[in-house]
Amino acid sequence: MSLRDIVIMGDPVLRQSAEEVDTFDEELETLVSDMFETMYAADGIGLAAPQVGILRRVLVVDLRREDEPDARVALVNPRVTWQSQETDRQPEGCLSIPGLEDVVERPVSVRIEGYDPEGLPVALEVDDLYARALQHEIDHLDGILFVDRVTPLKRRMLLKKWKKLRAEAEKAGK
Ligand code: NI
Repeated sequence: MSLRDIVIMGDPVLRQSAEEVDTFDEELETLVSDMFETMYAADGIGLAAPQVGILRRVLVVDLRREDEPDARVALVNPRVTWQSQETDRQPEGCLSIPGLEDVVERPVSVRIEGYDPEGLPVALEVDDLYARALQHEIDHLDGILFVDRVTPLKRRMLLKKWKKLRAEAEKAGK
């Protein structure tokens, strides 16, 4: 296992659509364990493969420290196959957009189908934070970031703040 570099907003890889996985091999296993390790090291609760520069439809989520004892999962080729009409609005952040956070409206409950890293089919019906985290990570597989899911005005404000944060980081030599 090894830590991967997390790419941040501005890198074009985050804006591309990831490709379906068709071989469940050792390389995939390594990717998944590296993604978990990278996510834990960055103190995150979810990570999608494009965030480590790999354009494959793979994501990991672990919400156990958020009082969701069963919410640890790695999904390959996940799809939302049902979503509730009911939505809620909760703050979101992203390891690829450090320093920014905003409220995003999403369906409260979703059904997600995909595969585990061994290639076995998985179907999950989840609510609240678990549903939100999975939707956020699936968005990454389609090149969508949470800043795309706020109002245009909010988006402009977020991008302005992001520019400032990046300029400061550059000055500090990061
Ligand atoms: Ni994210």
